Amino acid sequence: MTLRDGERVHLIDHKGRVYALNLRAGKTYQHSGQTIPHDRIIGAEDGSNVVLSGGAKFVVLRPTLAEYIMKMPRGAQVIYPKDLATILLWADIYPGATVVEAGIGSGALTMTLLRAVGETGRVVSYEIRDDFAERALENIAMYLGKVGNHVLHRQDIALGIEEQQVDRLVLDLPEPWRVVPEAVRALRTGGIFLSYLPTVPQVVKVVEVLQGSGAFGLIETFETLQRPWNIEGRSVRPALRMVAHTAFLTVARKLVTPVAVEPELDE
Ligand SMILES: C[S@@+](CC[C@H](N)C(=O)[O-])C[C@H]1O[C@@H](n2cnc3c(N)ncnc32)[C@H](O)[C@@H]1O
Repeated sequence: MTLRDGERVHLIDHKGRVYALNLRAGKTYQHSGQTIPHDRIIGAEDGSNVVLSGGAKFVVLRPTLAEYIMKMPRGAQVIYPKDLATILLWADIYPGATVVEAGIGSGALTMTLLRAVGETGRVVSYEIRDDFAERALENIAMYLGKVGNHVLHRQDIALGIEEQQVDRLVLDLPEPWRVVPEAVRALRTGGIFLSYLPTVPQVVKVVEVLQGSGAFGLIETFETLQRPWNIEGRSVRPALRMVAHTAFLTVARKLVTPVAVEPELDE
């Protein structure tokens, strides 16, 4: 499919450096003193080579969602693609699902959820900061265009989840334990709670509150590591640098019969 006026593309140089560009008919792209008219890119095949006025060569590509997320303007820190991919299966996001998330941040998780629930599902976001909400909505519109199945509530999710019979709840905020009472009310039975937390004390707290609620079972916590490799001739080895830590994922299922809670024993 050819590249269109108005869409975002990535220019990638021979060292793998990526430059984002919003295509606009009549405009000129400038890079290190070299230029190319956008009109020379508009109408080109996705994956074409382009040459700037001074001879610099780039591959021009429509970004994948993961590539777009890593280069889009950020308000809040985004969830990295390795974790977004994991969230989709461990929170079991499926076409037609009603998914509630908080906060919207920069919109990376929101876009990932919207693609997975499809047109028959819906995503509801809660966010307390207007500046982040605006940034996220712009990011979403730039990549997905007009979306009819996304709702944003500008409020603290711990103060109330309006939706009922929610299939999945995904929380990327610092105090998800405050949301557990609302999660118990809003999630359908069999529904999934997932929280994304960077530190161990936060994980301990959310797991204790989930256990203490008596409404959740199958609680598990894990992290994912993605170790890139260098494959160049005989140099076949792990890359020298990697993202060593992002966050821990805690997943829990809402059950029909409350789980018996063990009384705390003083030692
Ligand atoms: C790390 S960011 C989320 C990033 C987002 N998941 C993404 O992938 O782009 C955390 C967001 O949660 C919001 N937030 C924090 N506490 C909240 C609450 N109680 N209710 C709603 N939003 C909250 C913050 O304002 C911030 O935008």
